[in-house]
Amino acid sequence: MSGEEEYRDGYEGYEDFDRLALDRSGQADAFDTIGDRYDDAFPHKEGQVEAGRWLAETLPPGSRVLDVGCGTGLPTARQLFDAGHEVVGIDISPGMLKLARDNVPEATFHHVDIVDLRVGGRYGPGGPRALGPFDGIAAFFTLLLLPRPEIPYALRTLYTALRPEGLLGLGMVESDIDDFPIPFLGNSVRVSGYLRDELRQVVRDAGFEITEEDSHAYAPASTDVPPEIQLYLNCRRRA
Ligand SMILES: C[S@@+](CC[C@H](N)C(=O)[O-])C[C@H]1O[C@@H](n2cnc3c(N)ncnc32)[C@H](O)[C@@H]1O
Repeated sequence: MSGEEEYRDGYEGYEDFDRLALDRSGQADAFDTIGDRYDDAFPHKEGQVEAGRWLAETLPPGSRVLDVGCGTGLPTARQLFDAGHEVVGIDISPGMLKLARDNVPEATFHHVDIVDLRVGGRYGPGGPRALGPFDGIAAFFTLLLLPRPEIPYALRTLYTALRPEGLLGLGMVESDIDDFPIPFLGNSVRVSGYLRDELRQVVRDAGFEITEEDSHAYAPASTDVPPEIQLYLNCRRRA
């Protein structure tokens, strides 16, 4: 198999996205401004901690785990490292990455957009963004910051970054919106979501089996963030 064929994953469409249509404007800036107020607004993270524990404890110690959209690194990157894993985090917000490096100095963090993780993508096999393969991936409340048409590509990119049978812990907010601006801690961020049946379908179509599911009604500690239903899907990459 030639190198080119080897990396054909059915999601070459990501390459065809007009780069300008991947509009991140304002998203990274908003999270730079939000900084550690994010953790203050979301102090009760029982659902996320539980989902992180599933990932941390199901994977054998010493696994390579990616935290996509790692934010401040708390609780997830810290939790994964403390369970004995090698943790790599990526985020588009330099401010969040600084907090993550301070909070979890033992992990490695990169300023990388999820779109650039795709092996065989713009950077090519073995390129600087080919950070995988990983045994596990945590993607808590990151894919909801992408426009809906991009989410299946992003999931497929995570599929490709995982080893066969690798685990994905996914956290989303249940909603039926696409790239919709919401007020968020004094900023405006654009968010997308699915109702749970559709979310399951999108995740399965990207090549994952859903092994467990959990939902939490969540009222953030700040009135500047609307209440939400959080969905956690524990997934396994089909071989
Ligand atoms: C809502 S926060 C969640 C942070 C963390 N995962 C948690 O649950 O505590 C989303 C994070 O994803 C980052 N992010 C947004 N779009 C991204 C993208 N395209 N690629 C990588 N990170 C992104 C944001 O900068 C932010 O830090």
